[in-house]
Amino acid sequence: MAFRTPPEVLLRQCLRYRSVSKIITKPSHSVSQVPCAAASYKTAVCVKIGAPLEVQHLPRPRKLNAREVLISTHALGINFADILTCKGQYQDRRKTPFTPGGEISGKVVEVGAEVSKVKIGDRVIALDFAKSGGASEVFVAPAEAVFPVPEHLSLVDAAATVVSYSTAMMALSRKAKLKQRERVLITAAAGATGLAAVDIARNLFDCEVIAVCGGVDKCNFLKERGANYTIDYTKENIRERVKEITKGRGVDVVMDQVGGDTLLDCIKSLGFEGRALTVGYAAGSIPNIPANQLLLKSSSLIGVFWGSYALSNPAAFMESITQVFEALSQKKIHPYVGNTFKLEQINEAFQFILDRKSVGKVVIKIREEDHPAVL
Ligand SMILES: NC(=O)c1ccc[n+]([C@@H]2O[C@H](COP(=O)([O-])OP(=O)(O)OC[C@H]3O[C@@H](n4cnc5c(N)ncnc54)[C@H](OP(=O)(O)O)[C@@H]3O)[C@@H](O)[C@H]2O)c1
Repeated sequence: MAFRTPPEVLLRQCLRYRSVSKIITKPSHSVSQVPCAAASYKTAVCVKIGAPLEVQHLPRPRKLNAREVLISTHALGINFADILTCKGQYQDRRKTPFTPGGEISGKVVEVGAEVSKVKIGDRVIALDFAKSGGASEVFVAPAEAVFPVPEHLSLVDAAATVVSYSTAMMALSRKAKLKQRERVLITAAAGATGLAAVDIARNLFDCEVIAVCGGVDKCNFLKERGANYTIDYTKENIRERVKEITKGRGVDVVMDQVGGDTLLDCIKSLGFEGRALTVGYAAGSIPNIPANQLLLKSSSLIGVFWGSYALSNPAAFMESITQVFEALSQKKIHPYVGNTFKLEQINEAFQFILDRKSVGKVVIKIREEDHPAVL
């Protein structure tokens, strides 16, 4: 499975989307068809880089190969890479037309001849960022990227879980080697990845969590979600507040999704032998860190690129997903979907994220869970 995560230069301020999706019926790209009863399905298409997506009605997808699974999509979890791809600002440039979205949940409607892992009717999560295509009523995924949804999890929550939680799990568990009851500082803590990290650090590692975010509403929300302390960086200095909270000792681990000046502030907030994780650059700038800042406290700076493990170390990649599913099944962690949008509102959903209005994950709800499959 080719798998890629967001690039780390995020020029969100520059990205603007029109608010209304255009609905058209003539497909702008061809799809090979199989003889079947169903006529067409809805899909959001990027017809031109930088332009709003269009919702089109396309013919049924081509015939499955032996290792593929056809899924009737219920929900799409939006990742920032989806937005950047449509703007042509992702590391891999896509040829138009294409349908964005690589993290979906839904029900299996057909399986290839060699697929035994899932069967028709199963509730599943599927990932495919290389081919994408998730902003659609149907999704064809390679069987190895399809996972059964834990029973108690709704399909909306399921679409919001794997990328954010597995990234946070890999960062904290594998890369930072987080220990029980350590002190953790998490930036962009109300965002999808940050909130997953707060959940994992609090509820799996019993850590003391200091959550950094912008604004009093996000601070209150993070306290409700279990953060021990919050820092509103729009009013407070991260380093001074961490010093106050930890009585000068600093934190053991930092997980930073923001970059820019924030990462250096966070590194300065580490205690002796602290570990800082650089996970994202939501601020849009990649920081230069003076090496002496690491030497002074014998601390470490560790990069995390979860998606790259799918190719470079599939065992570690799968381990991060398995750890998340185990914790979900034991109801120890609780994914949070802040907002849902319809497929026709996908441009509004993108803009909502760009405007930093989101908390947790934003999900496109394509159809209700009890709705029959389209194919
Ligand atoms: N390395 C990996 O494997 C990996 C995996 C997943 C995601 N990521 C990266 O992690 C970062 C966060 O992803 P996410 O899914 O958690 O995103 P998200 O849900 O959109 O949250 C991002 C948050 O960053 C904060 N932020 C700070 N400065 C910002 C700025 N200048 N512009 C926009 N937002 C700013 C905002 O919160 P406040 O309002 O509180 O400031 C915003 O809500 C992204 O860079 C993403 O590409 C990396």
